[in-house]
Amino acid sequence: MSNRHSATITARAGIAQDPAYGSVTPPLYLTSTYELKAFKQPGKYDYSRSNNPSRDLLGDALAELEGGAKGLVTSTGMSACLLALQLLTPQDTLVIPHDCYGGSYRLFVNLANRKQAFKVVIVNFQQNDWKALVQNAKPKMIWLETPSNPLLQITDVKAVCDFAKNLNALVVVDNTFLSPVLQQPLQLGADIVVHSTTKYLNGHSDIVGGALIAKDQAIGDELKWWANCLGVTGGAFDAHLTLRGIRTLLPRMKAHQENAALVVEFLQQQTLVAKTYYPGLKDHPGHAIAKAQQNGFGAMVSFDLAADEAYLPVFFSALRCFTLAQSLGGIESLICHPGSMTHASMDAAAQKTAGIGPTLIRLSVGIEDPRDLLADLAQAFAAVALAIEADGKPHSGNTAGSTTADAGTQVVATTAAAKHHDAGRQNAAEAEQSFRLNPALAAFW
Ligand SMILES: Cc1ncc(COP(=O)(O)O)c(C=O)c1O
Repeated sequence: MSNRHSATITARAGIAQDPAYGSVTPPLYLTSTYELKAFKQPGKYDYSRSNNPSRDLLGDALAELEGGAKGLVTSTGMSACLLALQLLTPQDTLVIPHDCYGGSYRLFVNLANRKQAFKVVIVNFQQNDWKALVQNAKPKMIWLETPSNPLLQITDVKAVCDFAKNLNALVVVDNTFLSPVLQQPLQLGADIVVHSTTKYLNGHSDIVGGALIAKDQAIGDELKWWANCLGVTGGAFDAHLTLRGIRTLLPRMKAHQENAALVVEFLQQQTLVAKTYYPGLKDHPGHAIAKAQQNGFGAMVSFDLAADEAYLPVFFSALRCFTLAQSLGGIESLICHPGSMTHASMDAAAQKTAGIGPTLIRLSVGIEDPRDLLADLAQAFAAVALAIEADGKPHSGNTAGSTTADAGTQVVATTAAAKHHDAGRQNAAEAEQSFRLNPALAAFW
């Protein structure tokens, strides 16, 4: 375990480590292969699928940041997840949370159901009986995502890890939403951390990448073998950019969080917001645990629009500062509709179980001037209010400060907003299809 502080590890990630010329910032090794010193005398590197100096610098920095023995850099966040799953066999059971990133859910469920790669048991860690459910499952591995995507639910990592030890189960934590500067799951007892480095770690929305950090050297070595065998290692250029991104991780996270706190305060005063999901709120069910296990509440915020889903297009198209897009964790503010975007790979029933409603909106709060962000949201809410009025419906949502949704106060859309939406909902299949933002992408869900 490194005794350097996160601000130092991040600011100096890859700095002054060039053995060839002493360059202060790290060189980028764009090479697929390496010359042998002589016949049967390979150097430290032989082929970039197995090892690459640019990738290794990133892996080492992440291992130091998370406090692990080994950091592996993968091509995407999903391939980091896939890599961790190599520790399972068809006889093993994987426990997954009922709410997690839709792509992770799709991977777990399809590998289990279509490939019989392992068995899956879904557990709601927010319920008091989670211990009994986990014990009954007899898991080899427990997967956690905290805060969860997109509802920002908090799981007590230490409690789960302590319990897992008795069951001889490994705990994997997806730490994408916070980054190691805000949460270090290995220090709470987890065995493996995975990241989509696409998000906060890189921070500039210009790569897709992933990482896996193992607490234990032997597990790290086994997974490094699998990473090479499967060919899921990340590209050198992406690693180089991510390493550059990491050097500003701390000030970025600080700025993200300051803006997020202002956005949350603003959302709570909106009559068109039925419920705000943010672990920094005192009435968030996971607030106390988040306070204890995190170094900050992060900058992901979700809320339910207190209006019929037919008004979503009005809201989204009015925005100028928040960009309607998948992903999160870049310096620019993004907004998304989890039901039809990030979590479209969960079917309607799974979304319902996870608590993802049709008017749930997720914000990745960026580092722009907060005045512009609040003004942008204000004018988008005003546009929705206007559309509702044009439909001749009074609108009412929560009272300022309340975070509790009242289904009875939801506004029902009629003509004006329905124009944007009502493409014909004759049967259940069509209704589900119309819930998806882009049916042309259906093959990827
Ligand atoms: C929490 C979480 N884990 C994993 C992933 C997958 O990462 P990637 O898109 O880099 O494959 C995502 C993507 O959004 C995510 O939000």
